[in-house]
Amino acid sequence: MNYPNTKKIDTFTIQLNGKSCQAMSGETVVDVARREGIEIPTLCHDTRLEPAGACRVCLVEVEGQRRLQPGCAWKVHPDMKVTTESDRIQKHRTVLYSMYMADHELDADGLPVETANTNQLRELCKTIEPMNLEPVEAPRVGRPGDENPYIEFKPDLCILCARCTRYCDEVEAVNAITLAFRGSETTISTAGERGLIDTSCELCGGCIDTCPTGALVEKKAPKNLVSLETKTTRSTCNFCGVGCQLDLHSHNGRVVKITSPEPGETLNDGNLCVKGRFAYDFVHHEDRITEPLIRGEDGELHPVSWDEAIAAVAEGLTKVKERHGADSLGFISSSRCTGEENYLMQKLSRAAFGTNNIHQCAAT
Ligand code: SF4
Ligand code: SF4
Ligand code: FES
Repeated sequence: MNYPNTKKIDTFTIQLNGKSCQAMSGETVVDVARREGIEIPTLCHDTRLEPAGACRVCLVEVEGQRRLQPGCAWKVHPDMKVTTESDRIQKHRTVLYSMYMADHELDADGLPVETANTNQLRELCKTIEPMNLEPVEAPRVGRPGDENPYIEFKPDLCILCARCTRYCDEVEAVNAITLAFRGSETTISTAGERGLIDTSCELCGGCIDTCPTGALVEKKAPKNLVSLETKTTRSTCNFCGVGCQLDLHSHNGRVVKITSPEPGETLNDGNLCVKGRFAYDFVHHEDRITEPLIRGEDGELHPVSWDEAIAAVAEGLTKVKERHGADSLGFISSSRCTGEENYLMQKLSRAAFGTNNIHQCAAT
């Protein structure tokens, strides 16, 4: 059957570093290279965003082009020949990274400083012997007095790649932040330089996640998070029924930060909302019930094992069913549970106790 408005995808061959590679119309040089296991460094590139060609880190040689071209934005075409490693490209990277370093806060090792966020620029700078350039004192500013509880912007670490502003626009459709001012004063700001909570910002934190230099960081996370030994545990967010996947980073048994798995890896495609990303304090709250409790004859709640608790519930429910019939029972589940947990709840209601009295709060 022919579907109207269905675009035909052409496949063809291109040459990458002399090797024939299959490519599809609409793909970029970086898309094909990554599939082929050829590493091209990137900073402003995010698979969820339209290419911006802003950072110039991914420049490659394209046959027939006088200048180096951005691999993240350059669309492939049949028989094109691309070189991703050469003396010319290496020279370009050395100059570019050295310029970023001259315009950046450096640590004792002469590398861009770490924050509580991954710093891709720092990793790239380790791959060159930097040129000795005069440090640049750019007069760009942050948002003085931004009292929002979650997000901090460090203007000295920003390379103006606009990943954060494009994410806010193209993924969140919020447009709370933008590139502001001109020339050396260019910075990331909001309308009227207002604090984030006085804008349309949803505090989703996606801008932190996409920032490649650690210029946007989570205020709650320990400042030395990158150097701390943390354990990562994949889990499902329990704030709603969407089922977003989370990576819980814990240190000494306490959650210190939550991030999303990489874009493309799970259904939430690298995104989280304000609750999933920042509202993890409850995990260690002292009021939280961490073991089953049964009320004794003294009227007080007493801790019991899970086996004892489940046996007591089964016995109680069975007694009610025998005395008053299955439809005297009702089961209520929650949209905070996973789809699998809700499935099991209706199975318990229908198959084990024989009633269709099963409800879930998201159904109202
Ligand atoms: S937290 Fe989310 S909504 Fe707010 S500025 Fe960042 S990306 Fe935009
Ligand atoms: S804050 Fe980060 S993501 Fe935003 S422009 Fe600066 S370096 Fe890029
Ligand atoms: S990653 Fe291509 S220009 Fe930034």
